Amino acid sequence: MINLDQIVNTLGQLNQFKLSDEIPSSFIKLKEQGTNQATLAAKVHSLIAEGQLHNQSTWAAHMTANVSPQSLFGQILSSLHNGNLLSPELYPVLASIEQQVISWLCQLFEQQYGHFTAGSSYGNLEALWQAKQANPHTRIVYASNAAHYSVKKACQILDLDLRTIPFNSASQMNIENLHSACLAATPMAIVATAGTSTAGAFDSLDDCILLAQKYQAWCHIDAAWGGSLRLLPECDQLFGKYLAKADSLCFDPHKVWAQPKPSSILLYQQPMRPMMSIDADYLQQSPSASLTGSRGGEAFLPLWFSIASLGVKALREQSRLPIVQAQRFSEQLADRTTWPVHTSPSGIVCFETQKDLAHLVKLGIFSQAKIAHKDVYRAVFISSLVRSEELISHLEPYF
Ligand SMILES: Cc1ncc(COP(=O)(O)O)c(C=O)c1O
Repeated sequence: MINLDQIVNTLGQLNQFKLSDEIPSSFIKLKEQGTNQATLAAKVHSLIAEGQLHNQSTWAAHMTANVSPQSLFGQILSSLHNGNLLSPELYPVLASIEQQVISWLCQLFEQQYGHFTAGSSYGNLEALWQAKQANPHTRIVYASNAAHYSVKKACQILDLDLRTIPFNSASQMNIENLHSACLAATPMAIVATAGTSTAGAFDSLDDCILLAQKYQAWCHIDAAWGGSLRLLPECDQLFGKYLAKADSLCFDPHKVWAQPKPSSILLYQQPMRPMMSIDADYLQQSPSASLTGSRGGEAFLPLWFSIASLGVKALREQSRLPIVQAQRFSEQLADRTTWPVHTSPSGIVCFETQKDLAHLVKLGIFSQAKIAHKDVYRAVFISSLVRSEELISHLEPYF
């Protein structure tokens, strides 16, 4: 019998690899004969060490977190299995786990159907593709100026007319402006963002959903970043009362839930509409209408195994910890400096300062961004390891 605890512990040790001061970086030429063991081992060492950037209490530059040993095991499980769910009848165990995880996510986000995607860039594209088919007579899409750039890409691919709506001082789509825009030109779709990439802001989902209903437009919610908060009862009001009336929603477990990439889900209320009738005579079941072709368990086995072994409670804590630290960080900054601080409900804190923090950006502690044309430094609380005090201690010399 497999000793799961032992395997997960060993993976955990590999995942705690110490970041060496100097990461050796020998170039390995890909050639006819394989490379010798020692050179290869050195490269593997530097690769693992580089990934440990995310395993530090000061990593707040970007939306990438360290994968837990349980998720790592799920990822290995997926490679060991390596089945293809284009033929679900051959893999009933894998197919039933996929369905179980999708149903759980559907329930969480009050949607009816779903499929995993390779990231919310694909989620936004597929949602707008569905919106276009549901409403083929108009091309206008409204989204906030702060929406993720993948919405722009999706509109370009689908030949849609994206019209951006300004955001307010809290980086939320300005609803008055959205109202006026809808009055002036009926939308095909409204994209609301639940957790903007730069500032972590939540658009008013209820307003967007109700407006979309009024104009018989599709409402898509991009919850790639902020979706993790759905597990926290104290964040209920961010999602509003009408989530079940949104037509689609995408979410990335590979962000705050720290799953190996890609792990992303697109959820929706109506079955996907195929663009044309699709058939593949070599498959027993017609392929689904989604964009995805071959797939195994890579997007959901890591998540399934971590929830199955640690419970939803652990995921809830993982979602809550960064929020608590982000709040503490913004309070400490406000106490210790006069720097303007932009807080958000979803674990991103931006601040303005005349000081040059390029060194801290280089270390992966903060990133640089712009909010309404103003330069800001940005702290992304994603990992449950990030500590406000540690970030403040790096800023102290600049106070
Ligand atoms: C709000 C938002 N939407 C969409 C995306 C795109 O997600 P992915 O990188 O998984 O394609 C991101 C990525 O950071 C995001 O922050």
